[in-house]
Amino acid sequence: MTPSVLFVCLGNICRSPLAEAAFREEARRVKLDVLVDSAGTGDWHVGSPPDPRAQAVARKNGVDISVLRGRQVNPADFRRFTHIVALDEDNLANLRRLAPVDATAELSLLLDHVEGREGQPVADPYFGDDDGFDFTWADVTAGAQGLAATLRRFRD
Ligand code: 4NP
Repeated sequence: MTPSVLFVCLGNICRSPLAEAAFREEARRVKLDVLVDSAGTGDWHVGSPPDPRAQAVARKNGVDISVLRGRQVNPADFRRFTHIVALDEDNLANLRRLAPVDATAELSLLLDHVEGREGQPVADPYFGDDDGFDFTWADVTAGAQGLAATLRRFRD
C-alpha cells in the first residue's frame, strides 16, 4: 500500500511546507513511493504562498516551494492520508480534537521519528528572525529522514 503523509502546523506557511519539501526530497533520494501534502490547523493563510523567509531557506537548500498554497486541515484528511504528522504538540492536540470518529490516519509528531528527539516540537519561526528558518530546515530535514525510515517499515 502506498503511504500518504500530511504535514500539519498552525499556519501552513512556514514549518509544514518546509517539512513537505524536505520529505519529498528525502523520499526521492531513498526511492520511497509516497504521496505528500501539508495543511494548517488555522485558516488565516488559506490560499497564500509560503512565508518569503520559508521560500528563501528552501531555495538556499535547492528546493522551490513558491507554488505551494496554504490550506486548512479538514475531516476527510483523516481518511485520505495514512499518516498525519504534526510539527508541534499544540498542532497534535488540535488534530486529536478535530479527528472524526472514522479517522484511519496514524497521528504523530515529526520529531518522534528522530531517535533521541521524541516528543520535541519543531519551534515556530514565524515571530522570530530569519535564522530561525535555518533551524526549522535542519529540524524538518532530520524529521524527513526519520519518517522515511518509519515508512519503509510501514510499506514492507
Ligand atoms: P507555521 O507558522 O505554523 O509554521 O506556518 C505560523 C504562521 C503564521 C502564524 C503563526 C505561525 N500566524 O499567527 O499567522
